[in-house]
Amino acid sequence: MLKSRRNLLSAVVIGLIASAVAMPSFAAEKKLTLGFAQVGAESEWRTANTTSIKEAAKAAGIELKFSDAQQKQENQIKAIRSFIAQKVDVIGFAPVVTTGWDTVLKEAKAAKIPVILTDRSIETKDDSLYVTMIGSDFTEEGRKAGQWLLDNYKAQGDVNIVELQGTVGSAPAIERQKGFMEVIKANPKFKVTRSQTGDFTRAKGKEVMEAFLKADPNINVLFAHNDDMAIGAIQAIEAAGKKPGKDIIIVSVDAVKGAFEAMMAGKLNVTVECNPQLGPQLMDIVKQVKAGKQLPKRINTKEGIFPMETAAKEFPNRKY
Ligand code: AHR
Repeated sequence: MLKSRRNLLSAVVIGLIASAVAMPSFAAEKKLTLGFAQVGAESEWRTANTTSIKEAAKAAGIELKFSDAQQKQENQIKAIRSFIAQKVDVIGFAPVVTTGWDTVLKEAKAAKIPVILTDRSIETKDDSLYVTMIGSDFTEEGRKAGQWLLDNYKAQGDVNIVELQGTVGSAPAIERQKGFMEVIKANPKFKVTRSQTGDFTRAKGKEVMEAFLKADPNINVLFAHNDDMAIGAIQAIEAAGKKPGKDIIIVSVDAVKGAFEAMMAGKLNVTVECNPQLGPQLMDIVKQVKAGKQLPKRINTKEGIFPMETAAKEFPNRKY
């Protein structure tokens, strides 16, 4: 009887010691939680970006709380507030528009939650409100699009360009337009005669292009701020009895698979790459931030440009 009581006691003591030893290593391996507020699901690019973030979080062992803002800033602000209330370790977001973030970012700062911007930048006087921004140089993308046009369009007389802008007030819409205009002004024959937002979606790209075609029978070039709007516009151009890629030269941005398919069909002339695969880099940065590492304020992604002639060769290598 006494012996079995002693055995029981030693078993309890051993158990307690074992769990005490196990506890610190459990605490050290505590999963990091990332709250991520995505723009929406407006384009093929965005879908690839979301997949990259979800897959990378899983691979890095980071718990991801994901929210889709359906392209509305107020939804992103709500999501960020909810991440603060849930005390996540890090907040990441791709801001729908550039302005109007200071209040909510001050709340995150007060709660000592670091913020990482991905894909799109913001305008703020206080850049201590975010740790770093990873994404593309949209102005450079606009420049590449403009330069391709100057180099490849053999202008006889004036070149009538229409522009499908991205979401009003968003960094890619503002900066792609800026870069494009900066370059094409070198040749006064190149003129943007119509410019309207298609909100980065196929449906709106098609709708706005239909209106452009009704208003003007002499369009030479379309500059679309993303491939999805270009693909929507291609449908409108064909419905109007014209040949996209020939009657109207099409220059766009993103380099998603849909654009390669359109290029291989001869309907889109060139796409400037904008890389959505930011997930692995983001997870890396989340870990570095939590480890107290110093990071540069801006980390740019490397990107190329793909004219129609390269599409068939490049298509099998495309990941998104
Ligand atoms: O912010 C990146 C842009 O957003 C992509 O070019 C566009 O397709 C997306 O919706």
